[in-house]
Amino acid sequence: MYLKKKRPWEIPESEAAPEEAYLGRRRFLRNVGYLSLGGVMLSGLGSNIFGLFDDKGKETGIKVARTPTPVLYPAQRNAKYTLDRPLTDERVAGTYNNFYEFTSDKDVWKHVDKMEVRPWTIEVTGLVEKPRTYDIDELVRLMPLEERLYRLRCVETWAIAVPWTGFPMRDLVALARPLSSAKYIRMTTFMKPLWASGQKPGSGQPWPYTEGLTMEEATNELTLIATGIYGHELPKQHGAPIRLIVPWKYGFKSIKSIVRIEFTDKRPATFWNTISPEVYGFESNIDPDAPHPWSQKMETMLGTGEVRPTLLYNGYGEYVAGIYRKG
Ligand code: MTE
Repeated sequence: MYLKKKRPWEIPESEAAPEEAYLGRRRFLRNVGYLSLGGVMLSGLGSNIFGLFDDKGKETGIKVARTPTPVLYPAQRNAKYTLDRPLTDERVAGTYNNFYEFTSDKDVWKHVDKMEVRPWTIEVTGLVEKPRTYDIDELVRLMPLEERLYRLRCVETWAIAVPWTGFPMRDLVALARPLSSAKYIRMTTFMKPLWASGQKPGSGQPWPYTEGLTMEEATNELTLIATGIYGHELPKQHGAPIRLIVPWKYGFKSIKSIVRIEFTDKRPATFWNTISPEVYGFESNIDPDAPHPWSQKMETMLGTGEVRPTLLYNGYGEYVAGIYRKG
């Protein structure tokens, strides 16, 4: 994922490695602390934005927009989904991001201030019996939120392990009642060059960002629509106010800041697949052995710098391998 700068296969893996600056500090986000500190406005941030503090009372630089639904966070953790490694420090995960609408660098959090996450609607449309446009706050109240610990693996070979808050995508699919002709789901991110300078005319990229899944993938129990992380609402750099998480696929499939979900009978064109189909396949399941322009055999955990062997399907084979063994 090296938009504008170089073609993907020209980047040395060292550039995808975590930066030393993010490694050192041990930090805990205390949900209780967040909620109580939520009443404190940080100077210069505006009345609708709150900064998160670390356990020493120091600003982390991570900002979260105030929403009408903070009581929903933290949600009850679903104990079924466990990790084989420690959680990534929140500040590390929140300061090393991919969100090319804003920048092709990793310091997305410094570039998101113009984005507005309220009001926000998600249009559910296409081959369904019940097309409907949901207001984000209506949707999060409608769906039972839960917390899940998942690994997320970027095709750049970095990885994180984080607590997402959200609901299974299949619950939303059930509300929409897809027609039998619906074979795929196409998701779209906002298109707002005024917020996101990467989208300005002339960028040469196929904005808005789009991604897609087959119906079987979308209704797999792992596929999550996330509205929160680390026990609070998503910060903008993580894809506020609502994003997809498909933990057995490379991170670019997990589209951020969704405004539209469309059911279709044709495999949709997607952002990275349009740019470079040979590198970013539509399926893009995590696979250490699949041919790829740069090696996918190992991954580096952000924060600790630990290098680990890449797991087939990111270790989620028990949930998803069956999808791909079928003819
Ligand atoms: N969604 C949009 N709209 N734009 C993006 O640039 N980057 C993707 C994905 N979703 C991206 C996106 C990539 S490449 C990765 S690895 C993950 O978001 C990173 O998610 P994170 O920054 O929350 O860790």
